[in-house]
Amino acid sequence: MSLPAAPRINPSILSADFVNMQADLARIATADFAHVDVMDNHFVPNLTFGPQMVERIQQTSPVPLDVHLMIEDPDRWAPGYAEIGAASVTFHLEAAADPVALARRLRGIGARAGVAIKPGTPGESLYDILDEFDQILVMTVEPGFGGQGFMPATMPKLRSLVREARRRGSTVWFQVDGGVSDATIAQAAEAGADTFVAGSAVYGSDNVEAAIRGLRERARAGSLDS
Ligand code: DX5
Ligand code: ZN
Repeated sequence: MSLPAAPRINPSILSADFVNMQADLARIATADFAHVDVMDNHFVPNLTFGPQMVERIQQTSPVPLDVHLMIEDPDRWAPGYAEIGAASVTFHLEAAADPVALARRLRGIGARAGVAIKPGTPGESLYDILDEFDQILVMTVEPGFGGQGFMPATMPKLRSLVREARRRGSTVWFQVDGGVSDATIAQAAEAGADTFVAGSAVYGSDNVEAAIRGLRERARAGSLDS
């Protein structure tokens, strides 16, 4: 599969209509990936869906899946999402017992391996293992819910991580998730993000296609400022 170029826009189906998922997936055909938030009510205080639902989403989505696991014990559960055929599987560093071994298993199954860090987790914890991942998700809200405000305080961490990765010759993707909107996307792009998750900013719009296009244009403009 040829990979889409930056800036990549990944609408989060957490903001879709859960009983009209097929129609809401069809609405994001011009996006790069469908972002699928799996929550277990333990790692975060919210519950969404598990492998069975994600498998149906995979069969139905017009774009590849970008699975974001907000779950405990990803070492046990994450490989199953790669086996379903998700293009990328991202687990939380805070939850994984052996992040390097898990990333290698995900890649071995054929998925892109992603690691996410919460706003309070320092970026330095990833410096020595950057090569093990295809994408790094810097959370721009506390994980758990859509519709929260973007945390600009996470931008220095993103910027340092991007700088360190490029210094080491890494081409890893940098994703932001939480509160990404027309008003905030340019600052994340300017800090070095190339992949943008947006839930309410996409599904909250009456014209989803225009919302995706608008986010892409603003991200592109922001990255030119960096
Ligand atoms: C939050 C999820 C996000 C969420 C983003 O924990 O990981 O993917 O859907 O929603 P917005 O874009 O509305 O902040
Ligand atoms: Zn997410």
